[in-house]
Amino acid sequence: MKVTVFGIGYVGLVQAAILAEVGHDVVCVDVDADKVEALKQGRIPIYEPGLEPLVKENFAAGRLSFTVDAAHGVKHGEVQFIAVGTPPDEDGSADLKYVLAVASTIAEHMESHKIVVDKSTVPVGTGDRVKAKIAEVLQNKGKSQLTFDVISNPEFLKEGSAVADCMKPDRIVIGTDNKDAEDVMRELYAPFNRNHEKIIVMDVRSAELTKYAANCMLATKISFMNEMANLAEILGADIEAVRHGIGSDPRIGYHFIYPGVGYGGSCFPKDVQALIQTADHIKFDAKVLKAVEARNNEQKTTLFAKIHKHFNGDLKGKTFALWGLSFKPNTDDMREAPARVVMEALWEAGAKVQAFDPEAMNETQRIYGNRDDLLLCGTKESALKHADGLIIVTEWQAFRAPDFDLIKTMLSQPTIFDGRNMYDPKRLAKRGFTYYSVGRQ
Ligand code: UDX
Repeated sequence: MKVTVFGIGYVGLVQAAILAEVGHDVVCVDVDADKVEALKQGRIPIYEPGLEPLVKENFAAGRLSFTVDAAHGVKHGEVQFIAVGTPPDEDGSADLKYVLAVASTIAEHMESHKIVVDKSTVPVGTGDRVKAKIAEVLQNKGKSQLTFDVISNPEFLKEGSAVADCMKPDRIVIGTDNKDAEDVMRELYAPFNRNHEKIIVMDVRSAELTKYAANCMLATKISFMNEMANLAEILGADIEAVRHGIGSDPRIGYHFIYPGVGYGGSCFPKDVQALIQTADHIKFDAKVLKAVEARNNEQKTTLFAKIHKHFNGDLKGKTFALWGLSFKPNTDDMREAPARVVMEALWEAGAKVQAFDPEAMNETQRIYGNRDDLLLCGTKESALKHADGLIIVTEWQAFRAPDFDLIKTMLSQPTIFDGRNMYDPKRLAKRGFTYYSVGRQ
C-alpha cells in the first residue's frame, strides 16, 4: 500500500520504517529540511535500538523516502498519517497547531479520497477538529466534492524498544465508525496482526481517550509505588519486598511498580498534564491525576533531599559522580529526565557534577553547554574520580554489576545515592558503603 507519514519524529520515523519493512511504499514528509537531508544520507536523528539498519535498508530498497515536498506526500499515500508533535502549551494542554497545519496541508493538495490517521497523542475531540479543518480547506479551495476519513490510531511504543513494540504490537487501536476505512487499516496492519487478533476497533473519541488512559494508568502505578516507597522508608519496611508481595497478585502484576526517582520522558508527564487540562476545561476535577502528577514532581526531588541531608545541607564545593542522564535506559532522551532535576539542584547548592551516560552525553552537552560545574566523562569509572559520592539516576545495564572495590578507591567518600534500587543494601553495607536507595532502610 502507498502510505505517507507527516512528521519524522520518534513516532513518525519508527512507524514509517516498520511499514516499509513489511513491504508498504512509504513517503515521509517533514518541514525540517536538515532532518530530511540527514536521513537521506543515513543519519538518524534519534538513538533507538534497531532503527538505523531498518531505515537504511528500506531507504536503499526504495520503500522508504524522505521529502519536504508536502504536495508529493499528499499525492502519494492512500493513507496519510499525522505524526507531528503535540507539545504542551502554557497550561499543559496539548498544542494542536502542528496537527491542524498538517490537516490543512493534506486538504490543500488532495485530489482523491484520503484516509487521514491521527497517530500523534491528541486530546479527545481532535479527530472532529481535524475533520472540520480538512472540510473547511476543501470548501475554500472549491473541492468540497472530495471525500475523506479521519481515523484515530494511537501509538503505544516505548522508547528504547520502539522498533520491537511496533513490529510486535500488543494491540492496534483503530478509532473509526466507517467500515471501508476500517478495512483499509486492517489491510495496512495485516502483517502485524498475526498469531491472535490484535486489532481493536472503536469510535474515534474512545480511541483518543484509550491512549491517555493507558499512559495515565501506568503513571498512576508508578506514583502509587513511589508513595508506598516513601512510606516504607519512614515505617521501617522494605519496598522491594512489598513490590514482590503485591506483584504476585495477577490483578496487580509486576510491571510498572518499580519505585524510583519519578517518571520522565516525552509521554507520561505531558499526557497526565494534558488529561488534567482536558478535564479542567469541562469543569471536571481529575483528582487522581492531579495527585499522580504532584507525587511525581515531588519524587524527582527526593534523591537530592537525601544527598542534602547526608551532607547536613553543606554541598558547596562538593563533587558528585552521576551515572545515568537519560530519563530511562536505552535512549538518549532527556526530556523531563529526573537527572536534570538532581543536577540542577546540585548546581544550585554549589556542587559540581561529573556525569556519565552510555548514550546521552551529546544530549547533555546540547542542553547544558559548557559549564564549570559539569564535567562530562568518557567512562563511568572516570566520573568517580575524587567525588564525594556516587549518584545513580538511570538503571542502565552497565551499572548493574560495577567494580565496587574500584568505586571505593576512587570516591573520596564511599557513599552511594541510588535512585533505582540497583544494589543489595546488605551487601553494600558489608563492603563499607553508606548506601541510600528508595523505600528501603
Ligand atoms: C511510555 C509508555 O510506556 C508507552 O506505552 C507510550 O506509548 C509512551 O510512554 P516511554 O515514555 O518510552 O513510554 O517509557 P516507559 O518505559 O514507559 O517509562 C516511563 C517512565 O516511567 C520512565 O521515566 C521510567 O523510569 C519510569 N518508570 C517506569 C518507573 O519509574 N517505574 C516503573 O516501574 C516503570
